Amino acid sequence: MPVSQSTVHVINHLDRDYLRQALEADVRTGLTASPKWLPPKWFYDAAGSELFSRITRLPEYYPTRRELAILQARAADLAVACGADTLVELGSGTSEKTVLLLEALAAAGTLRAYTPVDVDAVTLESAARRVAGSFPGLDVRAVCADFERHLALLPRTGRRMVAFLGGTIGNLEPDARGVFLKELRATLRPGDTFLLGADLVKDTGRLVAAYDDAAGVTAAFNRNVLRVINRDLAADFDPEAFAHVAVYDARHDWIEMRLRASRDMRVRVGGLGLIVDFAEGEEMRTEISAKFRPDGLREELVAAGFEVRRRYTDPAGDFTLVLAGA
Ligand SMILES: C[S@@+](CC[C@H](N)C(=O)[O-])C[C@H]1O[C@@H](n2cnc3c(N)ncnc32)[C@H](O)[C@@H]1O
Repeated sequence: MPVSQSTVHVINHLDRDYLRQALEADVRTGLTASPKWLPPKWFYDAAGSELFSRITRLPEYYPTRRELAILQARAADLAVACGADTLVELGSGTSEKTVLLLEALAAAGTLRAYTPVDVDAVTLESAARRVAGSFPGLDVRAVCADFERHLALLPRTGRRMVAFLGGTIGNLEPDARGVFLKELRATLRPGDTFLLGADLVKDTGRLVAAYDDAAGVTAAFNRNVLRVINRDLAADFDPEAFAHVAVYDARHDWIEMRLRASRDMRVRVGGLGLIVDFAEGEEMRTEISAKFRPDGLREELVAAGFEVRRRYTDPAGDFTLVLAGA
């Protein structure tokens, strides 16, 4: 019997002009604020995604291994509980863990389509092609989009499970998180489900080590945002003149990644006609990564209109996967 080919379509909501305008607006806002800050989505060009992949394999970075362990134990149960024929994945990156969900949906006999969604077009397309090669007959529709802006534009056909893995939800500030969850809820139809992976509050030493590894990979990832701004906005940051900083803010239950100026510096952002001064020791926030308490996470989901159906944690209680219904 012939093996049916998978189809791969790539839909791009982030054309050059859109990306340029969004980057310009974020960099102007962040670098003229006090204290200065930059949003984490600009880490992820092809080089940033590759660095993030390396981070997921570091001994200190437990979240990927923990989430993988939950998926290995529970993917079959999740597949039956959601009954989905279409897996939509927000912030899909290299789609490595996703394969477990796709295999479970295939084994349950429902799988038809996969829609990975990411801001990094290069990583998105290569992951989509790799997945298509492993699942004959799968309809792969990759969407290059910003999940904070384009949820309403995602394909809505089929019975969908929308997965948001890796603890990426923690990169959104609490207000933005509430808006995101409500917007996502509004796009789901009866029968659709939401699978959320979130990192849990734990020992501060382990949390900080996960964002400040001995090999310096997270430091290189953090500085990559300066390389992106240099390249795309004709800036002259000296990335090596900024030290990587990771601190845990126990008041907010989140890790903050920052870049600290090692000396006084004047930076020109040619594309914006902007001159930005940094004082020695000045810190610029580049990411938050919120850590959750199981009941707090449930409350946030319920407040956004979700009904929590399943909650799993790994044996060490480090990470959680929650399946919520619409
Ligand atoms: C922390 S990584 C997680 C990757 C993968 N899901 C995992 O669990 O290993 C975050 C991913 O989300 C993507 N991303 C970040 N902000 C985004 C946004 N606003 N819209 C779409 N994708 C985004 C990044 O390119 C990256 O692939």
